[in-house]
Amino acid sequence: MYTPEMLESIKKVEATRGERIGANLRRMTADEKDAVLKAFHPDYKESAFTTLKVGANKGEKVPLELEATLEGKSRILGKKINLDKIDYDVDVLVIGGGGAGSSAAIEANEGGANVMMVTKLRIGDANTMMAEGGIQAADKPNDSPAQHYLDAFGGGHFAAKPELLRKLVMDGPECIEWLNELGVEFDKAPDGTMITTHGGGTSRKRMHAAKDYSGAEIMRTLRDEVLNRGIPVVDFTSAIELIKDDEGKIAGAVLLNMETNEILIARAKTVIIATGGAGRMHYQGFPTSNHYGATADGLVLAYRAGAKLLYQDTLQYHPTGAAFPSQIFGALVTEKVRSLGAQLVNSEGEAFMNPLETRDVSASSIIRECTERGKGVKTSQGEGVWLDTPMIDIIGGEGTIEKRIPAMMRMFGKYGIDIRKQPILVYPTLHYQNGGIDITVDGMSCIPNLYVAGEAVGGIHGRNRLMGNSLLDVVVFGRNAGQHAAEKCKTVKLGKLTLKHVEEFEKEAAKAVPGERKISPILLPDYTRKDM
Ligand code: FUM
Repeated sequence: MYTPEMLESIKKVEATRGERIGANLRRMTADEKDAVLKAFHPDYKESAFTTLKVGANKGEKVPLELEATLEGKSRILGKKINLDKIDYDVDVLVIGGGGAGSSAAIEANEGGANVMMVTKLRIGDANTMMAEGGIQAADKPNDSPAQHYLDAFGGGHFAAKPELLRKLVMDGPECIEWLNELGVEFDKAPDGTMITTHGGGTSRKRMHAAKDYSGAEIMRTLRDEVLNRGIPVVDFTSAIELIKDDEGKIAGAVLLNMETNEILIARAKTVIIATGGAGRMHYQGFPTSNHYGATADGLVLAYRAGAKLLYQDTLQYHPTGAAFPSQIFGALVTEKVRSLGAQLVNSEGEAFMNPLETRDVSASSIIRECTERGKGVKTSQGEGVWLDTPMIDIIGGEGTIEKRIPAMMRMFGKYGIDIRKQPILVYPTLHYQNGGIDITVDGMSCIPNLYVAGEAVGGIHGRNRLMGNSLLDVVVFGRNAGQHAAEKCKTVKLGKLTLKHVEEFEKEAAKAVPGERKISPILLPDYTRKDM
């Protein structure tokens, strides 16, 4: 499968493998990290950003693609929307069918609320399903939530909202118990204790996993729970605007049936946005590890309704996206591969960094290796560095790869690459939006009764997230939003429904944003070739 040039480079990787095994690769100093980030991390590429001209974050920095979406034209402009004809009338409307939405719906149902989920694809078509390596929680005797907090706070450049991060780490152990009781098949030792590993930037082994399909296993369990409870799930239906009442409280959403184009009205006493991430925006032309529907929809809806965003200028590029073969370009190669011992090695066979630096530092170092240092390996779509997977079985014993990362073995095996015998090529891939909608610790945005959970939230992780803290946050903050929304709706009295905020945003945007404006939310990425 590999080209002759790649095979030549693999010989150099093999030649240094013996001396690299057991070598203690130095960690970078804080100054070295700052320098590599500033020079190579895509978040520092000024030309890829602009400032917002309208809305609660007016004047702040934002990626070009996100600006075009946030300040785009509403899908309901020019359409006659009848807010007196209510198609769905519920206490809690959950928008999004991933881990956060499902966790929220389960808890809202548990709290006695009449809850409904809408999702533009199907329940489980979400980044949660794509997560591989695991979920962090400090539940081992040598660990503590305080230790977990310090790791995540430092890894996020001390920018996380302290009260949100505190909730994340404090609720972690109970969240693992909850998932375990619901039926998630975590990896366990023969005595029943959970097997845990390190992730980048963790000072303790606190990554709980289900092999390397942890997200799929968690999503399977949550989806079963939603369906077993009889919670209604309206598939293939997108929320395209939020509805308020005449007092400015959130009051529901305008929905679009993706198959028939029918517009439907959902009235709700509380709404939970759990629409996930934005990888399919392909910021700066990067490939992505995200699912097909990750297009920042929730951010657009909330922004038009007046919500404030936090850290909308920071994205996470997972250091190890597949760089070869082209069929899996950008697909996630889990960090667990490095947790189990694989090193990052350049075309000359040199291990150029400690493989468990935090993600932003790792991604920047890989970009530096390929650009400034010219030690990347060329592929038809760019270049990459080696992730020396055969080290895993050498360190952990034969069979470790097959047992601990079978999905990786299968993904590359399909293309004739046996990761037990040959290294694989990787390069950063767009993985996660660190920023999102600003919330308080009860999960509510600044718009009364509008809650947010999961990747659509900004501020839990600061300006960089550690591995495994996203699966944790979708469950912790999903459950949290569901509980608070269910409680809140007991006292909500809705007034007259209105979409005035959409008209007002449009008026402002039409004046302030020059040129053609995109229709948004974009809902699904457009991969049609424009040159044909
Ligand atoms: O590398 C991974 O398995 C990804 C995990 C995460 O983003 O938390």
